[in-house]
Amino acid sequence: APADVLRVLLADELSAEGVDHLLAAGVEVVPAAGLSGAALAAALGTVDALIVRSGTAVTAEVLAAGAPRLRVVGRAGVGVDNVCLPAATAAGVLVVNAPVANADAAAEHTVALLTGLARHVAAADASVKAGQWDRSAYVGVSLAGKTLGVVGYGRTGRAVAARGRALGMTVLAAGHRLGVAAAAADGVTAVTVDEAVAAADFLSLHVPLTPSTRHLIDDRRLRLAKPGARLINASRGGVVDEAAVLAALDTGRLVGAALDVFAAEPPTADGGTCPSAALARHPRVVATPHLGAATAEARAAAGVEVAAAVTAALAGTPVAAS
Ligand code: MLT
Repeated sequence: APADVLRVLLADELSAEGVDHLLAAGVEVVPAAGLSGAALAAALGTVDALIVRSGTAVTAEVLAAGAPRLRVVGRAGVGVDNVCLPAATAAGVLVVNAPVANADAAAEHTVALLTGLARHVAAADASVKAGQWDRSAYVGVSLAGKTLGVVGYGRTGRAVAARGRALGMTVLAAGHRLGVAAAAADGVTAVTVDEAVAAADFLSLHVPLTPSTRHLIDDRRLRLAKPGARLINASRGGVVDEAAVLAALDTGRLVGAALDVFAAEPPTADGGTCPSAALARHPRVVATPHLGAATAEARAAAGVEVAAAVTAALAGTPVAAS
């Protein structure tokens, strides 16, 4: 290829719509799904941009390996926690994301987890498939009239809050950019994280994983929860202290949890010895394998959104990660 053609390495599979967007922009697409570590660092040597989903960790080592042309890393999703931001900054590499495309899908999966948790959908399904018909074993709790605590009020948290209101729930929301008036306009009450935890019948987390949100829901906060509260996490596993969540489940402080994300993904990644694996196996945990953004529509849209952000950044008209 001529040296002046911009080259974008796809370290994870990108939607066909996203690839089409790159090709239409005149960019050469270099498929490299499954590369990691040294192989990824080597492949980066001849490209101008890298696009990842969640399968690839863009570590400090990868970025430090010396990629003379690399100017942009694009993340086909909201969270950029799999990209080492300080190392990217040090290498002069701009990091862009797809902040819009996945919000509704993530909110919809949160509702699936919320209702599935309240009504034991997964366990009841497994029992029927095993030939049982036990209607008294799966009596659940109603959502109408209950309090939903939403921690994190970006696009996803806000979309979850609206859906919680539609289910007849009282919604308390903790978000650092959420003021009293904006909350009132959305029909929710602005609270602190502690207040949300203390008042929630159902607590749902929608913050990015950053150094300041790691273990945001820790043992201290879980002790504030109402006995019998339920936790839903479709954000990032590291936002909760998983050992503390396990302890809260075992003492009954939490009667259940619905978890789409784990500190270790898959939870058995390190041989199943970490709390992620114990949580995933726990009888009162509903677990899904990081499916929040996994709809056909969201995947297509996230591919296009990140492709547009990357081509804009390469053209010198960047859209900052948000
Ligand atoms: C996101 O950050 O938008 C999601 O985690 C995307 C994904 O599932 O890879």
